[in-house]
Amino acid sequence: MAMINTEMPVNMPLTSSISSKRHLTIADCDAIDLAKEFGTPLWVLDEETIRENCRKYKKEFQKHHTDAEVVYASKALSNTAVLQIVTSEGLGIDVVSGGELYTAKMAKVAPEKIYFHGNNKSASELEEALDYGVGRIVVDNLQEIEKLTRIATEKNKQVNILLRVNPGIEAHTHEFIQTGKVDSKFGFSKEVLADIVQKVQGIPCLQFCGLHVHIGSQIQETKAFLLTIEEILDTWSLVRRKTKAELKELNLGGGIGIEYLPTELSPQIEHFARDITKTLEYKIKELKIPKPKLIIEPGRSIIGKAGITLYTVGTIKDIPEVRKYVCVDGGMADNPRPITYGAAYDAVIANKILEPKNDVVTIAGKFCESGDILIKNFHLQKAEEGDILAVFSTGAYNYSMSSNYNRFVKPAMILVNKGKAKVILKRENYEDLVRNDLPL
Ligand code: LLP
Repeated sequence: MAMINTEMPVNMPLTSSISSKRHLTIADCDAIDLAKEFGTPLWVLDEETIRENCRKYKKEFQKHHTDAEVVYASKALSNTAVLQIVTSEGLGIDVVSGGELYTAKMAKVAPEKIYFHGNNKSASELEEALDYGVGRIVVDNLQEIEKLTRIATEKNKQVNILLRVNPGIEAHTHEFIQTGKVDSKFGFSKEVLADIVQKVQGIPCLQFCGLHVHIGSQIQETKAFLLTIEEILDTWSLVRRKTKAELKELNLGGGIGIEYLPTELSPQIEHFARDITKTLEYKIKELKIPKPKLIIEPGRSIIGKAGITLYTVGTIKDIPEVRKYVCVDGGMADNPRPITYGAAYDAVIANKILEPKNDVVTIAGKFCESGDILIKNFHLQKAEEGDILAVFSTGAYNYSMSSNYNRFVKPAMILVNKGKAKVILKRENYEDLVRNDLPL
């Protein structure tokens, strides 16, 4: 096991360190050697950080709530190797599309460990889910109940479902990644829940197991989650009286924030688990309802800080008294989060990590778009062409939201552990770009 270095800033992978050459290292792999061997841009994932986060989630939740399950939200980063790692730690997998389900199949994820989500699942996606025998379908809306009933009846299958409820809670995060507020495309409103449960009770092929809520992502305070538990259980208590149904499972979704910057402070998994389970405990006592199984679906907080992206510095454009642009060989196609959400990131020059951060620069990508800026006005070591820039906390929603804009090939991804690096995603080549083109 690589040494876990507690001295390094909180936004870096757990195994980050500095070599005798004064280079950044991850899991005892020198970042400069990695860039040389595999090229840049390069997504690097630290296996130890992923495993440690999975273990911590399981341990901390199961410590307080014996019947707790941790499910990895694979939309944060889905590929075969990552799913193999998280499932080997005993986590389930949340998928939201036929493609994510297919990836889970390829990674040989046990069907019963899969939760299938989505606000507009197609008939073929539902068929694929039923054919594979996924553990739970998280039903989002009325039309889906009808579609699913038809397909399950045709296939003569029993389907275990959770109903997704919109708790009407606004978490403090970017508007685009809030999901629980009243005006949202996701889930049933609390007002119709009793009717929906009653409807499901009358459908023999659907087995109602419980509720699902997800209030948003990159949430930096636990309070919104605690309010959600209270809100949803208050609602459930009324529904229960009306329907006589039991809540066997409560899935609280994902959403804990992570540190993108060294100065940020995000909820710690141990505190989060303690507070969530305590609130659940007191609320079910107050309402006198049986204790449900608790399911939690983290994505970003499992994989986010395990990832860094390495870039090579190219053009440096200094506009006196205006701005100094340091341009790198990637940008918005491998990390669309800054241009999409105004997301903040932090970086170092991996080959100058011990030098002072005396320069104020803006990191620009190489895409044909003025907004292709990765980091605006921040302190960095003095950059020169050929330096290797390491951007931190790029494990979640970077690869999964990446594109081929400007016909750029997607980078490779490597997994590092104990001084070894393994390619888990091949770098695309030009042929990949035209693979599906059909000439006239
Ligand atoms: N469960 C459900 C039903 C979700 O919709 C999500 C995320 C998660 C779990 C996992 O949430 P996490 O723990 O990763 O916050 N592209 C945005 C994030 C969108 C999140 C969508 N749903 C971003 O880059 O910030």
